[in-house]
Amino acid sequence: MPRMKFDLLHNDPNSQARAGVVHTDHGAIETPIFMPVGTLATVKGLHQNELKDVVNPDIILANTYHLYLRPGTEILEKAGGVHKFMNWDRPVLTDSGGYQVYSLSANRKIKEAGVKFKSHIDGSYHFFTPESAMDIQRTIGADIIMAFDECTPYPCDYNYARRSMHMTHRWLKRCIDHFHNTPSKYGYNQTLFPIVQGSTYKDLRAQSAEFIANADQPGNAIGGLSVGEPAEEMYAMTEVVTAILPKDKPRYLMGVGTPINLLENVALGVDMFDCVMPTRNARNGMIFTVNGTMNVKNKKWADDFSPLDEHGTAWVDQYYSKAYVRHLFTVNEMLGKQICTLHNLTFYLWLMREARKHILAGDFRTWKDKMVKQMDNRL
Ligand code: GUN
Repeated sequence: MPRMKFDLLHNDPNSQARAGVVHTDHGAIETPIFMPVGTLATVKGLHQNELKDVVNPDIILANTYHLYLRPGTEILEKAGGVHKFMNWDRPVLTDSGGYQVYSLSANRKIKEAGVKFKSHIDGSYHFFTPESAMDIQRTIGADIIMAFDECTPYPCDYNYARRSMHMTHRWLKRCIDHFHNTPSKYGYNQTLFPIVQGSTYKDLRAQSAEFIANADQPGNAIGGLSVGEPAEEMYAMTEVVTAILPKDKPRYLMGVGTPINLLENVALGVDMFDCVMPTRNARNGMIFTVNGTMNVKNKKWADDFSPLDEHGTAWVDQYYSKAYVRHLFTVNEMLGKQICTLHNLTFYLWLMREARKHILAGDFRTWKDKMVKQMDNRL
């Protein structure tokens, strides 16, 4: 089976930032990239044509835990996989369930064999193992699938973090064995990304990065960050890990983050990101702009009829006024959430495309420093 290809096009001379292209059977992914989160096979509040034609991401994300619970693997298999089910013909990545089991389900029990958990939907009991996480992700049919891991909380005691990291490594071996011994179901290739853990301990992060690099899969991920630690600690961990992970494979930082977090981590050599922040915060009336974050529910916008975002590139930014969007939130009309979702995702994807342009042009570092200063502001 051919391996997923990554073309590294350019390295920024003044940082670790890179521009590249990941090739999958559902198309190319230009990096750095932000992957909109479509947990339940929908990016909440957006039609597929808006997602494709306005936000225009090369790849989106879905979740094993959620899709396993509903609609379940039987329906997904009958549909012919998640692409056909949701009518999305570009690449998809699924998270393994490792993270959601810890963050969403009550009463979970982690053992060497796997994790027993109680569904947050109906309280029923389920058991995920590294092997079943591979089987479910084969059935969902994402182009990139994730290893089954334990995401440690913050703060995390050193001995717990060390033991957990070693278990994640043993689970990775089981994931790799099982994944490579089962065929893909729908005629296109799938690729497995292992996940670096190690909490906020540099020595554990370095050890985990070595282990994950030696697993020699076509791409690698960094997990266990953006779980409440200060941003500086996150950056310190990313730096340790990207110095060790192979340069010729994409690096995916899971669950990160704010626009500033994205730029700082791009500068440290990260190629792929996902986060619920642009979509979830949009539904709470928070939007991100080049001049900082803005709470559209704020009273001060009540009679501000200027465009939602003068500098925004989405059509909604010029079409709707701040006062109108504020009104939609005040009266709890769903259009407000849809407008802000479209705005935020368009902004995140724009930011990554700009970053890529500046990496290719060789002036990423100066541009990044300017943008970080400018965005560190509340409107
Ligand atoms: N999403 C955010 N962080 C993590 C992590 O550490 N592991 C997994 N599987 N998903 C994540």
